[in-house]
Amino acid sequence: MRLSPGDLGETVDLDRVDLWDPRLYSDGDPHAVWRALRAKDPVHMQELADGRRFWSVVRYADVCRVLRDHAFFTSERGTLLSALDVGDPAGGKMMAATDPPRHTALRESLNRVLSARAVEARRDVLLQPVDRLLEPLLAGRSTDLATAAMDFPMDFIGTFMGLPADDWPRLAKLTTMAIAPHDQDFQEGSSQLTLVTAHHELFEYFSRQLSARGGTPTDDLIGHLMRTRIDGRPLDHETIVYNCYSLILGANVTTPHTITGLVQALMDNPAAHRKAAADPSLVAGCIEEGLRWSSPASHFMRYATQDVELSGHRIEAGSALAAWLGSANRDEDVFADPYVFDIERRPNRHVAFGFGPHYCVGGALARISLRMLFERIFARIERFEPAGEVRHLASNFVAGVKSMPVRAVLRPRP
Ligand code: HEM
Repeated sequence: MRLSPGDLGETVDLDRVDLWDPRLYSDGDPHAVWRALRAKDPVHMQELADGRRFWSVVRYADVCRVLRDHAFFTSERGTLLSALDVGDPAGGKMMAATDPPRHTALRESLNRVLSARAVEARRDVLLQPVDRLLEPLLAGRSTDLATAAMDFPMDFIGTFMGLPADDWPRLAKLTTMAIAPHDQDFQEGSSQLTLVTAHHELFEYFSRQLSARGGTPTDDLIGHLMRTRIDGRPLDHETIVYNCYSLILGANVTTPHTITGLVQALMDNPAAHRKAAADPSLVAGCIEEGLRWSSPASHFMRYATQDVELSGHRIEAGSALAAWLGSANRDEDVFADPYVFDIERRPNRHVAFGFGPHYCVGGALARISLRMLFERIFARIERFEPAGEVRHLASNFVAGVKSMPVRAVLRPRP
């Protein structure tokens, strides 16, 4: 997805806004649409051809409220537009589709193994993905960074979850199919069949992984879920499978697009690359701005549990709302010069990892892995250069790049 509006003066016809259409994100200009909505229609109703309707929430304050107030806005009926009004069989089982208090218990358990401290202790697991991603670039070869980046989180989440490395390429493809079933480059049959195949294969896969453990917890994330107790009771088979799905999806479909978004921003802002390379203390801020800039998860959804007012609009009980994180992260009421990529932006309270109870549980893992990658990049690579056309993912959920050929100009070895 393009990460800035093409023309800031362009007018957008608000009567024809279609935030559902995956092509808006591959070929269009969603930032221009969000910008116009923030100014003129910040809580916007859209009706699909089949009569289903959803509210789009685009301002930072409203996005935070919808994501935080679980008593008014539930996650249990699903959190993605692709499943609008179809219900969510994972509701109350998968952490992301469960409201507190049950959510809190699941969350506390996973927090223990995914905290910054726990991840720091396993930095060795993150070294190999960094090496593997950079190897062709450091060897002087042009590389499709988007393709290489899709393997990056799979390499570490695969190890954290204890999955055989031979399975990783298929798992990486299935997770992209699950979030971009309309993108022809990832389709296996129609978009509907692609989505069904991805879900079916992933659930089958994790069910087999779990059964293969024969009730004996392994020393990995799956084993951790097997050991987890809520109110003294173990999680059932289905609950563990849903949460495995959520962990792999959470890691795979987001992290790659922060890498491509950040590298693109560094190519467009060579002074920022030079600055971060000259001062390692700026790398953490550079990652935060990369997260704000790329906002890989474009939206998350909630459903109103009761009639509620939101920025002057009456939202009826049962209504679906899409909270657009990509828009909140460019809200001019919160971020000065939101369309400027500024690695020294302070404060930088972006919502790329969400807000409130469901704030990304893999945030520390994502941050630490990205920091390790970019520390190595700044140490070895003087600048990136484009080596071909950038192509964007057709997905209303993930703001992604599917092809981005680049070459690296290396720093002379000391
Ligand atoms: C740059 C990388 C990442 C981004 C931008 C991102 C974004 C997000 C966002 C916005 C949410 C909130 C969902 C909601 O409010 O409904 C979330 C939740 C979640 N993420 Fe991430 N994520 C990233 C990396 C990861 C990684 C590496 C993992 C795997 C460990 C992961 C697993 C999850 C899970 C399981 C949840 C559900 C948390 C809950 O319901 O409490 N994410 N993520």
